[in-house]
Amino acid sequence: MIKILSGASQIITVDTHGTNVKRGNDLNDVGLLTGYAVVIEDEIIKDIIPESSVKNYTAEEIIDLKDKIILPGLIECHTHAAFAGSRANEFREKLKGTNYEEIDRLGGGINSTVNAVRNSAIDELIKIIFPRVEYFISQGVTTLEIKSGYGLDFENEIKLLKAINYLNDNFPIDIIPTFLGAHTFPREFKTDHDGYIKILTRELIPYISRNNVNGKLKKLAAFCDGYCELTAFSPEEITKIFSTAKKFNMDIRLHTDQFNSIGGIDAALNLGAVSVDHLEVIKNEDIVKLGTSDIVCVLLPGSSFFLNHKYAPARDLINNNAVVALSTDYNPGSSNISNLNLIMSLAALKMGMTIEETISAVTINAAKALKANQYCGSIEIGKIADLSIFDTCDYADILYNVGKNLTYMTIKNGDVVYISD
Ligand code: NIG
Ligand code: FE
Repeated sequence: MIKILSGASQIITVDTHGTNVKRGNDLNDVGLLTGYAVVIEDEIIKDIIPESSVKNYTAEEIIDLKDKIILPGLIECHTHAAFAGSRANEFREKLKGTNYEEIDRLGGGINSTVNAVRNSAIDELIKIIFPRVEYFISQGVTTLEIKSGYGLDFENEIKLLKAINYLNDNFPIDIIPTFLGAHTFPREFKTDHDGYIKILTRELIPYISRNNVNGKLKKLAAFCDGYCELTAFSPEEITKIFSTAKKFNMDIRLHTDQFNSIGGIDAALNLGAVSVDHLEVIKNEDIVKLGTSDIVCVLLPGSSFFLNHKYAPARDLINNNAVVALSTDYNPGSSNISNLNLIMSLAALKMGMTIEETISAVTINAAKALKANQYCGSIEIGKIADLSIFDTCDYADILYNVGKNLTYMTIKNGDVVYISD
């Protein structure tokens, strides 16, 4: 079936000329086209043609996008949307001046969400996460990553991953599950790190990487993630866990350099991680190392904003040729923000990124952080027809309207999956 998207004021293709990544100056080249239409055949982008040629095509459907713009479907590559409960009490404490690391030491933080998750049945979790996924789709998101990490024992990590897999099966967008058992040490293992690491490496990783779902062998998670920080895992502990993940053919990603720079970047580079996420306190020499690698630097300005903390040095990373992506880091403790438009505006206003750089960072480069950049993240012939349509004539409006959702339509695999009222 042929469908044509016609009449749009702008098409922001984020064309990569086949490289499927953007770095350095190239981040600013968002492939702006005016006077063009997008031809979709089934779930694939078949062609990008001048408006004058639309009449030559026999299409089953022509969608009129007058006064609208077309972007690639947005890729949300780092969320902790699979959580239960609320940490509004910590938010109050934070406003009085207690910082995030202190709250964690005082018994709040990640482990308080762990209690809420352990006390929720899988059906309840699915019900809680469901509207969060809908909200992302209403923002033009066509690929959404969700991490576990609030179960922190065998039963509850698997419960979270099964809930995320269920949502992937029941939503039209791609929901990518990531295993974050190495988020922090659960309370019962605070003084027995080796005991918990054994559960991760001997029980959870082997099970997740070859789980039998409905008679088919299927990984319960695409990635293994961890948190390298003084309050969580050391680089040596991360290396132990990730070496096992690699043995079981899982790709790895790492939260690092959020509050302390303790060697996480070297560990991630040595282990061949797909991304390093956070980087608020990254050292200059590490910026240079990242710039000469293909690893994706996922920057999370929402957590800097929410915690009143430093922003990651986006300009230095870009100037050093690093592959930079952006994400909400949506979670209940350090970034209770699920608005990707707001993140793009923060990246421009607080980290000095250009409007174009932020667009590349939530499309092709975010797709690379999920190893999905070969088939989505840009409007290029042959890629999957994942598109987001915004109700404006100028793409600058997306960031200029801070926190406002201008999404008109979300298209996934060639089908309209959301349209605003
Ligand atoms: O990415 N840094 C660790 N994990 C989350 C926060 C999780 C929480 O506080 O619940 C993050 O910022
Ligand atoms: Fe995170």
